[in-house]
Amino acid sequence: MTETKNGRIDDRYATNEKYTTLRGIHRDAQRHLSEVEWNYLWCGTGDEVTLRDNTAAFDRYRFVTPLFAGISNPDTRTHVLGFDLSFPAFIAPFGGEAAFHPGGHLAIGRAAEAVGIHQMVPVAASFPLEDIAAASSVASIFQMTFVGDEDAAVDLMERAKAAGYKYICVTYSPIRQWRERMMEDRFSIRGERGPANFGPGRSDPAALVELLEFTQPRWTWEQVKRVIARSPLPCIVKGVTSVKDAHASLDAGAVGLYVSNYGGRTVDRTPAALDVLPSIRKSVGRDVPIIFDSGIRRGSDIVTALALGANAVALGRLIALGLAADGEHGVRRTLELLQREFWTTLGHLGCSQVQDVGEAVLYRHELDTGR
Ligand SMILES: Cc1cc2nc3c(=O)[nH]c(=O)nc-3n(C[C@H](O)[C@H](O)[C@H](O)COP(=O)(O)O)c2cc1C
Repeated sequence: MTETKNGRIDDRYATNEKYTTLRGIHRDAQRHLSEVEWNYLWCGTGDEVTLRDNTAAFDRYRFVTPLFAGISNPDTRTHVLGFDLSFPAFIAPFGGEAAFHPGGHLAIGRAAEAVGIHQMVPVAASFPLEDIAAASSVASIFQMTFVGDEDAAVDLMERAKAAGYKYICVTYSPIRQWRERMMEDRFSIRGERGPANFGPGRSDPAALVELLEFTQPRWTWEQVKRVIARSPLPCIVKGVTSVKDAHASLDAGAVGLYVSNYGGRTVDRTPAALDVLPSIRKSVGRDVPIIFDSGIRRGSDIVTALALGANAVALGRLIALGLAADGEHGVRRTLELLQREFWTTLGHLGCSQVQDVGEAVLYRHELDTGR
């Protein structure tokens, strides 16, 4: 099977490929990782209710398949935040990734480039942001949490701009998360495989300690607004899970929203990210770019997220699994399989292009039952 960057896909099963399904990638990833690393990948917080809810929310939706209206070669390409994407996906920013494979975000970037999507790079990556930017042409969005004071935040933004990033993704974490699997394992992403973005000759090393220990000063929307105004790059805000925060982000100067509960890794018993997406889209209108993550597990999930208001999704754990299974190749195959299943789903739902996906593709029980 050849799947190309232009969104046209050759419709044959890839019998000569090492992986023909995401299931196979998942199995290999589990084989390659120790239990401690596996726990780092999958852990949520508390009882992991939100982690489960994120995927359960997708499982509640069903599609409508129109008869004699299918499309034989839908176009999966789209354009989000000024980027041409071979299908509506970004690599989500996830740190400590060398725990899964020594190639880390360098390998991920090369795989994303081969498939034609863009990469978000976390401040907590296992490689310096400059090295990741140099590894491919698609390391485009730098994710940072505010550590230190406003000047330190702007310094890091300047550093990202100098390395070639096009956007800043702003995140917020006031305090350490309650992740019991990691606590039992005494796991830390510090050390050799730990964050490489701070240290002598780089940004203030004290900031690294703050990042890891989460002894961050309290940040207010006024400060965020000031820092976004000083940012050399346009900013999107990640972690938006309410209409109120969507508008606060836009008022603070964000050019896009990133609806996410970090895959259930921040605080438990918050709503599934998918459940808050429709109200946010309705409230901010059609023109604000929205990236969505938390719970995407297959290509058809991308259709559901788009139908409920996202312009594109971000892929976290799926990419970590691909990386663990087979480095750059595992990530590339993960992306190809996702793109292909997305393509297949579009075709069955009668969507010839990404823009055709709307609420009408979702089955609504009340219409059938007359309620
Ligand atoms: C191992 C791991 C590390 C992560 N590290 C970060 C991080 O450093 N910064 C960040 O913004 N999000 C981080 N995330 C959250 C992801 O960016 C993304 O929001 C999450 O994986 C989405 O949930 P899903 O993978 O279950 O779909 C991390 C996720 C995982 C699995």
